[in-house]
Amino acid sequence: MDRLKGKVAIITGAAGGSCYKTCELFCQEGAKVIMTDLDPSVEELSKGLNEKGGDTVALVGDIAQKDTWVALKKLGLEKFGYIDTVVNGAAVFSPPTHDWPTITSEMIEKVMRVNIDSMLYSYQVILRYMMKNHIRGSFLNFSSASGVGYNGSAVQGYPLSKACIKLATENMVNQVSKKYGIRFNCLAPNNVWVPKQEDVWKQFGDHFAEVTPLPYTGMPEDIAWAVVYLCSDEAKYINGVCLAVDGGWAVRH
Ligand SMILES: NC(=O)c1ccc[n+]([C@@H]2O[C@H](COP(=O)([O-])OP(=O)(O)OC[C@H]3O[C@@H](n4cnc5c(N)ncnc54)[C@H](O)[C@@H]3O)[C@@H](O)[C@H]2O)c1
Repeated sequence: MDRLKGKVAIITGAAGGSCYKTCELFCQEGAKVIMTDLDPSVEELSKGLNEKGGDTVALVGDIAQKDTWVALKKLGLEKFGYIDTVVNGAAVFSPPTHDWPTITSEMIEKVMRVNIDSMLYSYQVILRYMMKNHIRGSFLNFSSASGVGYNGSAVQGYPLSKACIKLATENMVNQVSKKYGIRFNCLAPNNVWVPKQEDVWKQFGDHFAEVTPLPYTGMPEDIAWAVVYLCSDEAKYINGVCLAVDGGWAVRH
């Protein structure tokens, strides 16, 4: 309880498996949350959390658009007067493939536009706001195991975008942290079951099980607790890490 008391967080992908669970735990730990997703069910999910004692507000929008970030900032400031945490959780996927000659730059661009532009706009709008107001906040970006090592699929948008996110997180530490005291970290999950990716699971579940050292599958709360920690003051000296939440996949032999 109260590990995030006083924090006000924007959480993107809040209607998705990992980030909805993150919103739930943020409420449980005393944070106020601005939940956003393209999926309109985010509104009902926000209401549900408020009925259970949470303090959230929802915005349906495309986080690949700068206007959505401007609207999130406005909503957050109107409702809570302050924003000090951003969890960049929303992402689009590209199906794993070995068929690299069929991958086009358009396919890569489509994924990069959401996964990279959303992070960029979060900096342009919310980081600028924090810097201007001397708020020592934190950003938590989502990389992926596929962005930090070869996971068996060909060059394609998703792993490229996730590798960029890890590098961009490290760049921000070097460019911003000293002057402003703002932290930037990321997660690299693998093999975490979420309901919206059931099709991927049907196709690759056996493969994930085989290549993961732990004998069980990750669940949304495994990601969500890591986010709670990295966004809390318990992690106030943790800056620039890319924490694997993968059952040991990254160090398997
Ligand atoms: N589950 C895993 O094993 C795993 C592995 C590696 C990385 N990740 C990362 O974890 C994060 C959370 O994903 P998840 O596993 O919960 O998947 P998910 O599919 O349950 O959630 C993703 C959410 O992002 C939303 N979204 C997509 N595009 C959007 C846009 N343009 N604007 C607003 N919302 C948008 C979707 O509607 C969805 O609700 C993602 O960044 C994902 O890449 C997950």
